[in-house]
Amino acid sequence: MTPFGAFRTAKGELTPGGVSIRAVAERAGTPFYIYDAAVMRRQYARLSGAMPSAVSIHFSVKSNPNICVARVFKNIGAGVEVASEGELRLAFDAGFAPEKIIFAGPGKNEKEIRLAVRKRIGCINVESEAELDRVLNCVGSRRGSKTANPARIAFRINPSFGVHGETIMIGGPRKFGLDDDVVERVARKALSDGRLDVMGFHCFAGTQILNWRTLTGVYEGFARWAVESAGRLDFNVRLLNFGGGLGISFSDKEQELDVDALGAGMKRITARLARSSHFRAAKFIVEPGRYLTGPSGVYVSAVTDIKTSRGVEYVITDGGIHHALLPIALNKNYPTAIVNKMNRKPAGEYVIAGPLCASPDQFSRKTLLPQPQIGDLVGVFNSGAYGYSAGMLFFLSRKTPAEVLVDDGKAWIIRKPFRPGHGLDKPVRCG
Ligand SMILES: Cc1ncc(COP(=O)(O)O)c(C=O)c1O
Repeated sequence: MTPFGAFRTAKGELTPGGVSIRAVAERAGTPFYIYDAAVMRRQYARLSGAMPSAVSIHFSVKSNPNICVARVFKNIGAGVEVASEGELRLAFDAGFAPEKIIFAGPGKNEKEIRLAVRKRIGCINVESEAELDRVLNCVGSRRGSKTANPARIAFRINPSFGVHGETIMIGGPRKFGLDDDVVERVARKALSDGRLDVMGFHCFAGTQILNWRTLTGVYEGFARWAVESAGRLDFNVRLLNFGGGLGISFSDKEQELDVDALGAGMKRITARLARSSHFRAAKFIVEPGRYLTGPSGVYVSAVTDIKTSRGVEYVITDGGIHHALLPIALNKNYPTAIVNKMNRKPAGEYVIAGPLCASPDQFSRKTLLPQPQIGDLVGVFNSGAYGYSAGMLFFLSRKTPAEVLVDDGKAWIIRKPFRPGHGLDKPVRCG
């Protein structure tokens, strides 16, 4: 399905969830992000339908850290993966049961670990030996003493095998996880300590991976390593977290991720694991972000100017890369359309550029568009993941975009726009 195909249109106007985009623009003001909860649920259902029942899906909050978005996933039974104190608190506030929360990410500080330990979340993914020591510090009681509520942990591994791709995070030297030739020594320390509930292992291959073979290859390599490692440690694994990274296609030329093939691969792998004596009680997790939220979102801005420069036609909008940095960071031509003219034929090729005094502030290079007019609404599709939170919201002190969620035929502002301040009028002495 093309990114446009995820949404309905009526009389040429994009109507996410049946709601008029023009009406939303009037109420919320431009620019804004709009997310369709039905598309999120559809993505979740698609993935959970393909995966074996032993695999649970944890929504990676960093892809879209809005509490109302997190609630969409909580309400359909997903778990959640967080990577900071702020995301951890968001998960609690959204109502996720603590045991459904996984805490990953390098360099966790003692304050956030203490919170995770106190709340007895599902798993803290330990990424280094120093981090293990910090967790032990937070557990409180002394080595060798049994605690009633030991902290649940897993070890994130950096396997020695790598894979090819643009955004791979395993193999070679990495800041993520423990190298696979080190992890067993650190795991032994945790297992012999007695104050921790060591659940298993975690491996996150990278992000925006479209090829199911690449993902399945990583899952297979990780599972193989885990079986050998559990054997050497004589350790019963109860949790194997295969990570996220499931990609979405940005154009008709990119082949969509074959989720059925991925699910079939996972079925083979988990069935094999179930026959291994150290995995009898194992549960499995995947923790995608972009796959669940990316297709649900559109970044909408209004056309403020149209000009020609030496034969190139520019459409200038009131939104730009300060709100939507990833199109240039990923170097992708995000699918773009004039969302109040979805039924008009292309009139020519245009460069869509934002209002920033920065040359990279261009969404798309030469996009076919119908004849644009000032006041038209330009939509950048596939913007539901790593959009709002991955921008440079304070750059040039422009108003931030609103976030809007449509669900069940209604649109809700789920984050109000605000104007970035300009620092403290009265500086606070700190040295
Ligand atoms: C540990 C971890 N889990 C999950 C994700 C989500 O990745 P994606 O949105 O590519 O699925 C990330 C992204 O960086 C991550 O670092």
